[in-house]
Amino acid sequence: MAFKKMTAAEAARFVKNGDNVGLSGFTPAGTPKAVTHEIGLMAHELHEQGQEFQISLFTGASTGDSCDGILAREHALKYRAPYTTNKDFRTAVNNGEIAYNDINLSQMAQEMRYGFYGKLNIGIMEAFDVSDDGKIWVTAGVGIAPTVARLAEKLIIEVNAAHARCAKGLHDIYEPADPPYRREIPVYQPSDHIGKDYIQVDPAKIIGIVEVNIPDEARGFTAPDETTLQIGHNVAQFLISDLKRGIIPSTFLPLQSGVGNVANAVLGALGEDPSVPAFQMYTEVIQDSVIDLMREGHCKFGSSSSLSVSNETLQSVYDDMNFFKDKLVLRPTEISNSPEVARRLGLIAMNTALEADIYGNVNSTHVSGVKMMNGVGGSADFTRNAFISIFSCPSTAKGGKISAIVPMCTHVDHNEHSVKVLITEQGIADLQRAKCIIENCVHPDYKQLMWDYLKIAEKGQTSHALEKAFALHKALAEKGDMHLAEF
Ligand code: COA
Repeated sequence: MAFKKMTAAEAARFVKNGDNVGLSGFTPAGTPKAVTHEIGLMAHELHEQGQEFQISLFTGASTGDSCDGILAREHALKYRAPYTTNKDFRTAVNNGEIAYNDINLSQMAQEMRYGFYGKLNIGIMEAFDVSDDGKIWVTAGVGIAPTVARLAEKLIIEVNAAHARCAKGLHDIYEPADPPYRREIPVYQPSDHIGKDYIQVDPAKIIGIVEVNIPDEARGFTAPDETTLQIGHNVAQFLISDLKRGIIPSTFLPLQSGVGNVANAVLGALGEDPSVPAFQMYTEVIQDSVIDLMREGHCKFGSSSSLSVSNETLQSVYDDMNFFKDKLVLRPTEISNSPEVARRLGLIAMNTALEADIYGNVNSTHVSGVKMMNGVGGSADFTRNAFISIFSCPSTAKGGKISAIVPMCTHVDHNEHSVKVLITEQGIADLQRAKCIIENCVHPDYKQLMWDYLKIAEKGQTSHALEKAFALHKALAEKGDMHLAEF
């Protein structure tokens, strides 16, 4: 390899106060881990010496503790986009310490190219191989890697031996032209390959290679329980019913699935239902359940921006590349989440709500309207453009003290114009509003409260009693339990 080898600590020293830094990867998958950790340690040292050090950080999606975690704890982040899941980061954002721009994931790369965020000083990429002429083979997640590689003035490559067996050919790297020269993105089937399996850069930009052997910092999932299994069963019932009615074509349509415990359980339940046809996925994350479904023949193909799976599952995929090679493709997020492609393929989008209201507006991001949970991620990329957009969630949270269905959402990420179906473990509300949602989706403990609210609502296209619309949230804030709401 023609490039200078250096330690992660040496590489970190190239990052200066005020720099814009871009990373490869999507979730901890494909995200560099050693250099960002060292940037955190360097920030600590500099702050102890009384020196200023903060960066702006751009990624495909969330990262692991070795990035968002340590950088948040060390107060090293001035600005961050577009999605995170780290607990310490969440605390810092909710304390107002970090300027967090929660933008739709499909837009991150193009907005960097459009120049919205200024120049990109440094790009850090995780790769499993780099050639002397500047070909970079990224690992288990792509995210905004092609754009970072092209825009960054300097590039540091973490060559991670933990991904050494990741076979070439899994990736499909394609960067669209910017307006007014953009053409169609020629993906007509989830399995279409439209680019190359590597990112080409000018090798002169690569200032150093850091050799590491670090597994991904995959998040574990809560095992499916009675509630999430019932949600999954209800989603399956809904899809089967729409297939039988001829709404969904008999060839079925590709599925998109969101992140988290609920989405993971829903997919698992779909696979177990023999009436759901074997399906393809066009989505942003492949979670553990999809790999199992592929082995069992329930999922025929998965297009994604990352393999966001446990390390054990990832190794099992690498060990079985002959089986998986023609069943998986990893794409840049602006392609995996492209609104144009979502609409062309006719995706069935399945995402998760924190809360939904009786008119089908959905809050996926802000607990009680104020506290940021994770971010909108790619959910809006898909929801607005899908063939059918489904949101699901357990009907209650926090041991029943919170009703996930409320009179009015305290924050709206997906509005009633895009959300077509709402599903909880209680049932399915299909293209219906208040009465159907209350009857079918609200937990029995909260139904009477919702009917009482409708009774006092001023009648209209969207009946509401504005002064009481947040009575459940008020009861939660003041008395710790939404049951205690009064109208
Ligand atoms: N009020 C307060 N807390 C709530 C809540 C509500 N209405 N609903 C859920 N929660 C809490 C849960 O109690 C749980 O808390 P804990 O971590 O302390 O146990 C947490 O939120 C996560 O809930 P869970 O039921 O385990 O759901 P999940 O892991 O499936 O995550 C989202 C749900 C909404 C947070 C997650 O899907 C998300 O971040 N979505 C937005 C991004 C997205 O959709 N990306 C995919 C695009 S492809």
